[in-house]
Amino acid sequence: MKANKNKYFKAAKEETNALVVYFSSKGFQANGMLEKGNTAILAEMIAKELHADLFQLVSKDKHYPDDFRPLMDISKKDIEEDARPQYLEDVPNFKKYKYIFVGGPAWFFYFPMIVYTFLDNHDLSHKILIPFTTHVGSGLTGIDTHLEEQYPGNEVFKGLAVIGAYTQEDPDRVRRQVKDWLEDLFK
Ligand SMILES: Cc1cc2nc3c(=O)[nH]c(=O)nc-3n(C[C@H](O)[C@H](O)[C@H](O)COP(=O)(O)O)c2cc1C
Repeated sequence: MKANKNKYFKAAKEETNALVVYFSSKGFQANGMLEKGNTAILAEMIAKELHADLFQLVSKDKHYPDDFRPLMDISKKDIEEDARPQYLEDVPNFKKYKYIFVGGPAWFFYFPMIVYTFLDNHDLSHKILIPFTTHVGSGLTGIDTHLEEQYPGNEVFKGLAVIGAYTQEDPDRVRRQVKDWLEDLFK
């Protein structure tokens, strides 16, 4: 297993064929006042482990407020309306990637809709989608199935779900989870 893992990581580094793209909120949240969002921390760990490119989606016009309550309201409304909130900058040269690690917090069993804006905006032919999320209990429930429904032409690999607070309070534990998950995916 070790040899395979090393082979994959080396290949990923040389070919830069893995992208980690994510949305993460900060501000006042379920696990306190965050300087850096939980999913941002997880995304950085995944990208580091894979030598992948890392890209954060930032919403245009401050679509997502920093405060918990208004954020809940807007995210619910987005789901009801199947909204596609816009983001600022886009990933350069998206076509060079084969593995798209796509992440965001679990928001009412969905990724924030801005993540779907990103996926809808790109040609996903022959891409492998690999979801990851942080959450307070629901895990990937709904996110993985929604991804498969939205993008039926794409292979969706088994995703990773991490309790959000662990990224801030016990990063070593999360790093181990990331390593185990990736080893399992690419063995
Ligand atoms: C609008 C909103 C909806 C949420 N919905 C869920 C949910 O359905 N299931 C869950 O386990 N956690 C839910 N949470 C908690 C977040 O998923 C969790 O705090 C996450 O780690 C935040 O990640 P971030 O810091 O990257 O934004 C929700 C939080 C917010 C703000």
